[in-house]
Amino acid sequence: MAARIDARRFDGKVALVTGAASGIGRATALRLAAEGAQVVAADRDRAGLDALLAELPSAKTLTYDAADGDASAAMAREAIAAFGRLDCVVCNAGIYRRAHFADITPVDWTTLFAINLGSVFRIVQAALPSLLESRGSVVATSSTSAEHGIAYAAHYSAAKAGITALMKSLAIEFASAGIRFNAVAPGRVKTSIGVGLKPLEGADERLATRPNRLAGKLDGGEPADIASLIAFLLSEDAAYITGTLITADGAQHLG
Ligand SMILES: NC(=O)c1ccc[n+]([C@@H]2O[C@H](COP(=O)([O-])OP(=O)(O)OC[C@H]3O[C@@H](n4cnc5c(N)ncnc54)[C@H](O)[C@@H]3O)[C@@H](O)[C@H]2O)c1
Repeated sequence: MAARIDARRFDGKVALVTGAASGIGRATALRLAAEGAQVVAADRDRAGLDALLAELPSAKTLTYDAADGDASAAMAREAIAAFGRLDCVVCNAGIYRRAHFADITPVDWTTLFAINLGSVFRIVQAALPSLLESRGSVVATSSTSAEHGIAYAAHYSAAKAGITALMKSLAIEFASAGIRFNAVAPGRVKTSIGVGLKPLEGADERLATRPNRLAGKLDGGEPADIASLIAFLLSEDAAYITGTLITADGAQHLG
């Protein structure tokens, strides 16, 4: 059942959402816009951004490649220029890769870190002057795998742990400047992120899943479940919350 949204927590605010062409980022862009935000939606997937634009004609869309740090910073500067201010940043674009640890190449490692973590550094740094002006708020998408680990995705979980540490560190550094930094840790969410990945030969899949008492009932969350959490953290409802990681996993990791 779709949540009823009657709050207007982002009237007059501008929000940049990365990874907005699909899944959690798309749901977040729609959620923030439904609450009054002017949204800048960024992704490498032009077709996905065009589909979002059809649903959200007021959005500004920007194509960039998060693997490229300079392009990430340039995208953030363009986002600020689009509406002349920036209040909220959602660093959410990411890739998921599976490999036996012994098979992860230095290029695999560097590429994943560039997309999932390095780009966040560049975007937030480029956005900083505007965030200082607006006393803005940043949310980045980590993962439950950062806290609990996950077999066959060591590079992914390590980069996601970096996201959490980055947000916590910035929360301290910029608390007196009024900018809040938080992270969300989704458990399994029904998006396209793992779609198309080939089964990993020789993997013991019991090491990569989290069965629990609820497993029969919960087959994963919806993107909107994470979008509502991100919107809360960005909003003034979370004015006293900074430097926090909030998990949304339907109790996947309990039991
Ligand atoms: N779906 C899950 O189960 C889950 C769980 C934990 C964390 N996450 C995280 O949530 C975030 C969103 O993922 P999702 O599940 O919505 O998946 P998704 O694949 O639907 O969305 C990811 C988006 O990031 C974009 N992207 C990927 N590489 C990019 C690049 N180089 N440059 C620019 N854009 C790029 C993709 O085009 C896509 O639109 C990711 O950071 C992911 O790691 C997802």
